[in-house]
Amino acid sequence: MANVTIVGVGPGSKEYLTRAAENAIYNADVLIGGHRLIEMFNSLPAEKITITAELMPVLQLIRSKTLNGNKVVVLSSGDPGFYGILATIKRHLPDLNVNVIPGISSVQLACARIGIPWDDAVLTSCHGRDILPLVAAVKKHNKVITLTGPKQNPVEIARALLAGGTGNRSVYLACNLTYRNEVILSTDLEKLATLDQSDFSNCVMVIYSD
Ligand SMILES: C[S@@+](CC[C@H](N)C(=O)[O-])C[C@H]1O[C@@H](n2cnc3c(N)ncnc32)[C@H](O)[C@@H]1O
Repeated sequence: MANVTIVGVGPGSKEYLTRAAENAIYNADVLIGGHRLIEMFNSLPAEKITITAELMPVLQLIRSKTLNGNKVVVLSSGDPGFYGILATIKRHLPDLNVNVIPGISSVQLACARIGIPWDDAVLTSCHGRDILPLVAAVKKHNKVITLTGPKQNPVEIARALLAGGTGNRSVYLACNLTYRNEVILSTDLEKLATLDQSDFSNCVMVIYSD
């Protein structure tokens, strides 16, 4: 079977790119990824294909370029196996072998910045997903970490949790990690629910009981 390589590029800045990821990316014939990730490697000679909302045509390109003998590298933010593109590629392209190079997940870096362990947390995602399963998780567990999304932003999530009856909980927010506008904030659901939604994008949210 032909091999496609899926590389985790970490949360943002190249400082958090592993040497193994860098080697695979620099040796690729074809680089495929979202706009922000492709931009990171604009200066490389590899052919570049940007993933847009229409995923199926890109998946077909991944298959055909790989079967034609190209070294195809698909870029994933953070780690490909944590709400990244790995599951999608395995589901839609079962005829390809996947070679996965792990990356530092946004959750790992968020917890490192805050200075807390994450082995005792329940990990979830609201990115492009219903918030209801998170409500159930927060009611049941003392420490829940969730990825947020453009629509499911931290303010929206705080309001949904309170409306769902979780009661007030402490919150850490880690937003835009490794970028110039990185923000780490300690707050709670009630305060967060009163803020402006546009203040927060690209965040990891830790919801916990003291
Ligand atoms: C599609 S998921 C990909 C997660 C990725 N595979 C990982 O391991 O971090 C995208 C979400 O990850 C989180 N994320 C990714 N990069 C981030 C960063 N630099 N700072 C904060 N959160 C980030 C945000 O919640 C964003 O909406």
